[in-house]
Amino acid sequence: MKKLRMGILGLGRLGYIHATNIAYKIPNTTLAAACSLVPEELERAKAELGVTDVYSDYRQMLANADIDAVAIITPSGDHCWQIEAALDAGKHVFCEKPLGVAMDQCKLAEAAVERHPELTFMLGFMRRYDKSYAYAKQKIDAEAIGTPYLVKATGVDPEGLIQNAIRISGGSGGIFLDMAIHDIDLMRWFLGSEATEVYAMGATFKHPEFKKTDDDETGVAAYKFANGAMGIVHVGRTAPYGYHVETEIVGTEGTIRISAVPEKNLAQLYNTSGVCTECVQGFPERFADAYLAEMEEFALCALEGRQPGVSVYDGTKSTLIGYATTESWKTGKPVKIG
Ligand SMILES: NC(=O)c1ccc[n+]([C@@H]2O[C@H](COP(=O)([O-])OP(=O)(O)OC[C@H]3O[C@@H](n4cnc5c(N)ncnc54)[C@H](O)[C@@H]3O)[C@@H](O)[C@H]2O)c1
Repeated sequence: MKKLRMGILGLGRLGYIHATNIAYKIPNTTLAAACSLVPEELERAKAELGVTDVYSDYRQMLANADIDAVAIITPSGDHCWQIEAALDAGKHVFCEKPLGVAMDQCKLAEAAVERHPELTFMLGFMRRYDKSYAYAKQKIDAEAIGTPYLVKATGVDPEGLIQNAIRISGGSGGIFLDMAIHDIDLMRWFLGSEATEVYAMGATFKHPEFKKTDDDETGVAAYKFANGAMGIVHVGRTAPYGYHVETEIVGTEGTIRISAVPEKNLAQLYNTSGVCTECVQGFPERFADAYLAEMEEFALCALEGRQPGVSVYDGTKSTLIGYATTESWKTGKPVKIG
């Protein structure tokens, strides 16, 4: 079997998950090189993932490593130049969301993808590869709920991850670009239309540290779409019970709810406290299968010379909407999009 030789850029919270999938869980990929600014992460990758070709300089990895493809899992503000450099070096590229945190950067990444139609590019909107979201999309396409006219999305991280959220808040692009981007992508996907207007607001009640980087710990945005449909997104960082990701798509003939209760599994505990369902605790647990499925699809696309369902334009569009949302949140006014 032909294998895709991959280099990973970034071995942090999510990078290590992707690296493990590439090294051990996907039959047609090999983890041939790794790059990180953190020496301990490189040592861990050597010890646990068997990578011997490691770098602290990305350009050196691109120039010297024997790789066909790169997975970019670095802070969001660096994605676009790293995409450009990899494509221009002749590597297929998988890049984590968001595409970028500024529109001019996204346009540079778009141009690089257009310069290299022979290479595969995929953006990590992994929820599209989650079984429940993919099922919802199939049902919508089969008109099981008539015409979808409203998407209501909730995405609140567990309070237990708050220190990391505070740490990255300065470079993440703000709460909407960092957290609402998945919901923005899903709204476009489910509604089959583009957002034309947004009104957003944010608040901070528990962790004033977010204010130091001009960020907020929670936010709500309402969207109007070109076809008349609507969207509501609630994002936050302080769910005391776990990782609350829930999506509802309302149509003229029915509704689809995904994770209406963000339960850990199908077990319920009956005891003196009553009947209890534990909550899923974070994105690595909730979307483990989706991270694997999207990387499997990327590898197949690169090996078969095709492009995946999620394009660079999905990245630009969602960043544009995320940007407009951020502008509305900052100015307190509705913002037209596009
Ligand atoms: N799809 C999802 O659900 C999801 C979840 C979490 C994070 N993310 C995205 O993944 C990306 C990474 O997030 P994280 O939480 O894993 O970050 P992190 O801070 O935990 O790790 C960042 C990694 O990038 C490396 N790095 C940074 N700059 C580098 C450079 N110039 N050269 C080489 N290595 C460099 C660091 O050494 C580290 O290994 C972000 O864009 C984030 O938005 C997506």
